[in-house]
Parts: sequence; C-alpha cells; structure tokens
Amino acid sequence: MDRLKVLLTHEQIAKKVAELGAQISRDFEGQSVVLIGVLKGATIFLADLARQIKLDATFDFIAVSSYGNSREQSGEVKLMKDVDHSMEGKNVILVEDILDTGLTLTYLQHQLWGRKPKSLKIAALLDKVSRRIQPIHADYVGFEIPDEFVVGYGLDFAERFRNLPDICILETDDGSA
Ligand code: IMP
Ligand code: MG
Repeated sequence: MDRLKVLLTHEQIAKKVAELGAQISRDFEGQSVVLIGVLKGATIFLADLARQIKLDATFDFIAVSSYGNSREQSGEVKLMKDVDHSMEGKNVILVEDILDTGLTLTYLQHQLWGRKPKSLKIAALLDKVSRRIQPIHADYVGFEIPDEFVVGYGLDFAERFRNLPDICILETDDGSA
C-alpha cells in the first residue's frame, strides 16, 4: 500500500510558479526565450510557468533516460529525444521538475552549451540539495525539499501520480520511502 503525504499544496506551488515567472520576465525583459522541458516530469511545471512569463516564448522538449521503475538513479544519462529546433543564439531556459543528484542537468547543460545558445539557464521546481553528486545550481528554484521521494504535479513513481495537483511524499509500508 502506498501512502501519500502532502508536502506542497497546489496553492503553494501556484504562488511560487508565479514568482518564478515574474523573475524570468524581469531578467529577460525585451527579449525572447525558449523553454525546454525535460520529459515527462517537467510538463506540468512548464505549462504553468510559461503562462506566468510575459515575454515572447517558444517551447521545445527533450527526453533523457530516467530511473525507470526504480527510485534510484542509475548514474548513466542517455539522450532519448533531442530538441526539434536550433538553439543557436537563443535565450534557453531548461525547465526541470526536480534537481536531485544533478547528473541529468549536468549532462543536459553540457549537451545544450554545445548548441551555442546566447544564454542557458536552469529552472527547477524542486531542489533536493542534500542529494547532490554533481556541483550544479539552478538559476530559478521553486522549493528546496528534504531527501524524500516525492510525486505529483508531473513527478511520478513508475509513471503513476503525475496528475496529482499537490506534491506529495510517497511512503511505502516497508519503510523504504
Ligand atoms: P538527477 O539526475 O538525480 O538530478 O535526477 C533528476 C531526475 O530524477 C528528475 O528529472 C526526476 O525525473 C527524477 N527524480 C529525482 N528525485 C525524484 C523524486 O523524488 N520523485 C520523482 N522523481 C525524482
Ligand atoms: Mg524528470
């Protein structure tokens, strides 16, 4: 049996996403941005964030190999789907659901710098600072959270729970959450 404990309510998330959108709108005033969502976890965050960004904006998506059905990162990151458009000379904002070990975003940052964007920033809704293996920082962070496995608002466990409006801690009866 899975138990869900609310960590961040949809109201708290909406308020924070509006703040992040306002900050991005100020930082890139008068310019265009390309939001690159990391599939699939970042889709809901991207959809909400994009509507809080008052700039000329386009979307693109990228997919990398993930945890699969396990909670542990394999350590190896592979590109499964590339972006559809050129990033050259663009203000790129990589949009991710959660920054955990940092392996995924370090890999993507390296990949995308190779495409010669004008600027490259990272927006992560959640940040599990204590789990970091790679020393990477997001430019826009929603919430720093403790080392708990969370689901909802796009985040999954074995593809489930992405549709929960709140972000919840997933607890299992064997105590391994
Ligand atoms: P990193 O490469 O370890 O930073 O992991 C980033 C990816 O791991 C995220 O895009 C998520 O897909 C996944 N992830 C990390 N922590 C969690 C969690 O608590 N719940 C769900 N997915 C997570
Ligand atoms: Mg993800």
